Amino acid sequence: MTDDGQRRFGGRVAFVTGAGSGIGRAVCLRLAAEGAAVLCTDLDERSAEDTAARIAEAGGRSGVRVLDVTDEAGVDAALRSTVEEFGGLDVVVNNAGIAGGSWQATIDVNLSGVAYGLARGAALLAEGGGGAVVNIASIAGVVGLAGARGDEVPAPGAGAYVAAKHGVVGLTRQFALLYAARGVRVNAVAPGYVETPLIEAATGDPDRRAYLERLHPMGRLGRPEEIAGAVAFLASDDASFITGGVLAVDGGYTAR
Ligand code: NAI
Repeated sequence: MTDDGQRRFGGRVAFVTGAGSGIGRAVCLRLAAEGAAVLCTDLDERSAEDTAARIAEAGGRSGVRVLDVTDEAGVDAALRSTVEEFGGLDVVVNNAGIAGGSWQATIDVNLSGVAYGLARGAALLAEGGGGAVVNIASIAGVVGLAGARGDEVPAPGAGAYVAAKHGVVGLTRQFALLYAARGVRVNAVAPGYVETPLIEAATGDPDRRAYLERLHPMGRLGRPEEIAGAVAFLASDDASFITGGVLAVDGGYTAR
């Protein structure tokens, strides 16, 4: 990857939610490393700024917006400001999410937040001539969760997370159909358990961590960079005939 001509996202612009931590941060860094200008958005300004600073250190281009994905008008404004700031929009990554919240909070962030970014993002991409949306779903968007507590008993609130993530998979397929003829591809990545602050409560305890690792046939948790690689693939022209897909990046979790 020596010049923009050889970088998959050279001259392109990406918009990422939940950019201040974990998977979102890794996605920003990966897209920027491959040449994209990236708008890093997050509820938490400092963490988004930190992601942007890392991009700048590596010689990349980025911007920062404070954004709560549950604010539909805010999502629309942030998407539009990306076009204003960088002169276009090619990639939208709906990544922001929470775990362990109430039913309402989980649906608001993990489902409605994705729906807003998807609806507004796909429309803007189509207006601009096309592009790609990647939604971060989960293994919980494809199967029920076995439980994360080391005793095979699902956490009481897991239903909200599973319902929201199954919803993300449904939205991905529906919007893929809606935009297939308008140059916008829509796909999802379904990660297994990934080493990020989201699951720190579980991974901090050695027994629970070992249990989570055993849930994955590969015997380990994923790394944010491994999810970012799949996101970059689906967002790139290498995936030019892929839309409505749900790519499992889960060490075999859903293969059983
Ligand atoms: P994380 O907790 O490390 O990062 C999430 C980021 O989203 C944080 O920076 C947070 O400030 C931001 N955020 C939270 N609520 C927001 C809101 N309302 N508006 C805007 N930003 C908000 O989490 P992680 O692990 O990186 O998760 C990212 C996505 O990946 C989520 O959708 C999560 O459900 C999904 N995922 C994570 C897995 C894991 O094991 N870590 C497994 C499968 C999916």
